[in-house]
Amino acid sequence: MTNQANDFGGAEALDLAGKHIVLGLSGGIACYKSAELCRALIKAGATVQVVMTEAAAQFITPVTLQALSGRPVYSSQWDSREPNSMAHINLSREADAILIAPCSADFIARLVQGRADELLSLMCLARPLGQVPLLVAPAMNREMYAHPATQRNLAQLVADGATVLGVGNGFQACGETGDGRMLEPDELLEDIVAFFMPKVLSGQRVLVTAGPTYEAIDPVRGITNLSSGKMGFAIARAAREAGAEVTLVAGPVSLATPRGVTRIDVKSASNMLDAVTVQSQAATVFIATAAVADWRPAATSSQKIKKDGSGQTPQLEFTENADILATVAQSPAARTGQLFCVGFAAESHDLLENAQAKRLRKKVPLLVGNIGPDTFGQDHNALLLIDGQGSTALPRASKLSLARRLVREIANRMAVVTPPEQKIAAS
Ligand code: CTP
Repeated sequence: MTNQANDFGGAEALDLAGKHIVLGLSGGIACYKSAELCRALIKAGATVQVVMTEAAAQFITPVTLQALSGRPVYSSQWDSREPNSMAHINLSREADAILIAPCSADFIARLVQGRADELLSLMCLARPLGQVPLLVAPAMNREMYAHPATQRNLAQLVADGATVLGVGNGFQACGETGDGRMLEPDELLEDIVAFFMPKVLSGQRVLVTAGPTYEAIDPVRGITNLSSGKMGFAIARAAREAGAEVTLVAGPVSLATPRGVTRIDVKSASNMLDAVTVQSQAATVFIATAAVADWRPAATSSQKIKKDGSGQTPQLEFTENADILATVAQSPAARTGQLFCVGFAAESHDLLENAQAKRLRKKVPLLVGNIGPDTFGQDHNALLLIDGQGSTALPRASKLSLARRLVREIANRMAVVTPPEQKIAAS
């Protein structure tokens, strides 16, 4: 379980600061994951009130959840600790969200029917619909999950205003393999943090390139660079949190795909160009963070180049790679303002001058400068935003918080540059 920004899973330290979450557990073996989820929510700054059904208490004790949440657990509507004897009202009025994890097939059916004969479903029914969102994390055997009754109930829950989080796929406690596992605590945390983020890119389709490219010399050697891909992955996550549909074209990196993001893996600059050419057709925002190799070997040997014993070094010739960002920025969509292009500049010195010149050369409305050796492989960075109006410095911070700030800056600029007729069509 990670609670750091360094791999962009889970959350940053205070992503949920000030949020009060009612964590409801219904009966299922996935209750064991809820202990860790409770802890993760608290580490992310939330306060957590646990409510359990009788069935949940068969799988994990209220003592465990009380110790982890630092609050007595509620499990009965007849709880005499509440002076007005209305636990269902009091608990739901205090919540910023109710999260049912695990949400069993039976509990989903109870929510759909509006049942109120035990505390957890009673509380869900009694919550003020417009103020207290309900999120459910289904957990059950794959046949139960696939059953038309469950699928029908889940669709009805969504129609009733609940947010149904996904399920995991894999080996289940029953010994079968398929869809229906509860998401892991890190995944749930990422989804909950995203849920609370302002949807400043709602309706946008964002395409991001990230990582290095690898230009093969022969089957065992190649040219690449030190880009870790972390900034681009953080931007993909932040854009998805902001409500965008996100596609991430990634060079060879070993980072986990942010939740809800479509990832396309590529190797060379020319693979990246091919993928971007296709994906940019549907995009409304293009953010080029990839450290694309400027050159590739003019010829790739199909066999490993061997030393011949003469002491002679191989004579490598290079060809320049296409500039992916400049190519996209020249497309009709970009030139008419339907595709907002953002470039990055990795410099070693004179950041402002070099980045300003690069923005003009690449013909993009926004260019983000950073110092290469200060960012490659690191979890923190500092950015300098350059547009037609001037420059804005974003001081050193985690890449995820910089990514969120950048997403807001992009949204603000798009609101300004979007032609009026587009705004009318979109409203
Ligand atoms: N870029 C690209 N395709 C390339 C080279 C760069 O899409 N073949 C994009 C990068 O993703 C980044 C921006 O262009 O958004 C600037 O990349 P950078 O490496 O800083 O600049 P270069 O254009 O390579 O110029 P130089 O190396 O001379 O600074």
